[in-house]
Amino acid sequence: MADIQDLAKLDGSEVQSSLPELMGAFSFALDLTEGQPEGHSLRACWIAMQLGERLGASRDDLRNIYYAAMLKDLGCSSNAARVAEVYLTDDRSFKHDFKLIGDGIGPALRFVFAKTGRGESLLRRGTAIVNILRNGPQIVDDMIEARCTRGAEIARLLRFPEEVAQAIYSLDEHWDGGGRPAGLKAGDIPLASRIALLSQVADVFFTNAGPQAAQAEVERLSGSWLDPRMCEAFSALSKDERFWSMLADPDLAMHVVTLLPEEMGIPVDEKFLDDITAAFGRVIDAKSPFTSGHSQRVGEYAMLVGEALGLDEAQLRSLRRAAMLHDVGKLGVSSQILEKPGKLEDDEWNAMRSHALRTAEILGRIAPMRDMAHIAASHHERLDGKGYPLGLDESQLALEARIITVCDFFDALTADRPYRSALSVDEAFAIMEKEAGRAIDPRCLSTLREALDAPL
Ligand SMILES: [Fe+2]
Ligand SMILES: [Fe+2]
Repeated sequence: MADIQDLAKLDGSEVQSSLPELMGAFSFALDLTEGQPEGHSLRACWIAMQLGERLGASRDDLRNIYYAAMLKDLGCSSNAARVAEVYLTDDRSFKHDFKLIGDGIGPALRFVFAKTGRGESLLRRGTAIVNILRNGPQIVDDMIEARCTRGAEIARLLRFPEEVAQAIYSLDEHWDGGGRPAGLKAGDIPLASRIALLSQVADVFFTNAGPQAAQAEVERLSGSWLDPRMCEAFSALSKDERFWSMLADPDLAMHVVTLLPEEMGIPVDEKFLDDITAAFGRVIDAKSPFTSGHSQRVGEYAMLVGEALGLDEAQLRSLRRAAMLHDVGKLGVSSQILEKPGKLEDDEWNAMRSHALRTAEILGRIAPMRDMAHIAASHHERLDGKGYPLGLDESQLALEARIITVCDFFDALTADRPYRSALSVDEAFAIMEKEAGRAIDPRCLSTLREALDAPL
């Protein structure tokens, strides 16, 4: 464990949260991405730790199990757009429901046919199904590979040891060798991956249909997907009423935080929190090919404007974090809507707009980000009060919110979108000038323009 501790102590300016608290709070964003009920990652972590302790896992193994189970879905946003594109459906409900169909080609195919292109024209639906029939295994291989690789990469950005990254990489491996991405078998699969997969299955069935459904599914998958020894341990745990009541406890997050007592003492300093923010910025941007690098760039532009406007170091730090996480709520929006090339219907538009409030909800859970939650969530507000989510006006919009709005607008205009190609910098500024004083702050706009014009 020394590696995390040493890296965390960079400049001594600690934030008021421990690593488990921060990861637990961020894990709600991952639940959104997977279309799972709120708290799924925390429940999976709790189940995993009960299993790990029962199986006599070492202290280091327990640490790996803890973070692998809590952050197993770090890479999931990277295949969201592809799921929506291939199956012509809402990626979040598709992923949620797919986890409930269990093992075997037959049920999987029936599910895919039933779900693919529902509500679409016969031609679009037929074309999609033919594509899946022709290229199905390759499509699934690619999607799982993207998810595993991205998940492991982000775990490394979060400074976790290689064992945690590998455990996340191997989450979809099955005990009988029929999993992906490497087809590992039995004991070759990292212990933390085996435990995290069982915990995922157990929580998905528990939240969907209760304890008996979870027990039945784990039993059914014993020896195929799941390690039989772990299934026996799970069966023993299942007999304890408290196991299930704890899973339904609204204060579970508080209990999960205490499961690794020594980790509670790990200080997270400001630099570490910056890195955590950047890593989750990558999770957000992976949700759509059109937003690749968006969070990072909005963060950089906001720093340029904030510095030029005289914000102090602490204000700049908060501004950058809010700018990098302003779209975290998009993880809860269907990629079918985010990627739609045409005009959005009313209900789609409402779903799209909901991302701003979701941003406030998610950041509001993260103690050192709480003060910035409403700033980050205001990036679609307008000076004239006609924006969303709250319709705030000039008198209610903080300088930091105005800065992020201008930077977000500029980056959106200068990047490709599903419905248009990227505009040139001049074209973007011409459009933005027309909105100055109505939607966006003229001083922030001119500052961004000057900062980008400034010689290097
Ligand atoms: Fe947004
Ligand atoms: Fe944005």
